Amino acid sequence: MITYIDSTEGIRAEQLRGFFVDWGWKDPPPPEKHLELLKRSDHVVLAIDEESSRAVGFITAISDGVLSSYIPLLEVLRPYQGRGIGKELVRRMLEKLQGLYMIDLCCDPGLERFYSQFGMMRVSGMVLRNYERQSGA
Ligand SMILES: CC(C)(COP(=O)(O)OP(=O)(O)OC[C@H]1O[C@@H](n2cnc3c(N)ncnc32)[C@H](O)[C@@H]1OP(=O)(O)O)[C@@H](O)C(=O)NCCC(=O)NCCS
Repeated sequence: MITYIDSTEGIRAEQLRGFFVDWGWKDPPPPEKHLELLKRSDHVVLAIDEESSRAVGFITAISDGVLSSYIPLLEVLRPYQGRGIGKELVRRMLEKLQGLYMIDLCCDPGLERFYSQFGMMRVSGMVLRNYERQSGA
């Protein structure tokens, strides 16, 4: 059974293994850095597999709490994809951010259909990536 939590209290780095790799990150943050970024995000939702106590999905948001927010990361581990977990993570995060004017994220064209089901619309964006900093080291 999958349960959803919106806090990192009691979460240990060992519960966060396996993320970023399938998603194609060449130099992924280790679980300790993953835990750190979760703790430092303004909002987080985690999907936990009750049987193994492992996190199998997560979403983060950073926000000024006045007008704007940004969703940098969303992932569901591959064996758990296609079961509605990603959709539930986004739904719960949007609920947290619902009072804000701007809720932004960047995604590949292949995911536009996934996000449009939440009423999100396509815009153009510009990003900068310091790949030598990808692991957070
Ligand atoms: C994108 C991702 C989070 C979706 O999670 P998921 O748990 O597999 O998605 P769900 O099972 O909740 O799917 C919900 C709906 O979205 C659709 N969907 C899921 N992934 C999709 C994709 N890549 N493209 C289009 N639609 C997609 C599903 O078909 C489903 O539709 P339905 O409700 O009509 O049946 C997951 O594929 C993932 O972690 N991918 C790798 C990391 C990534 O790309 N993250 C996004 C960064 S912007």
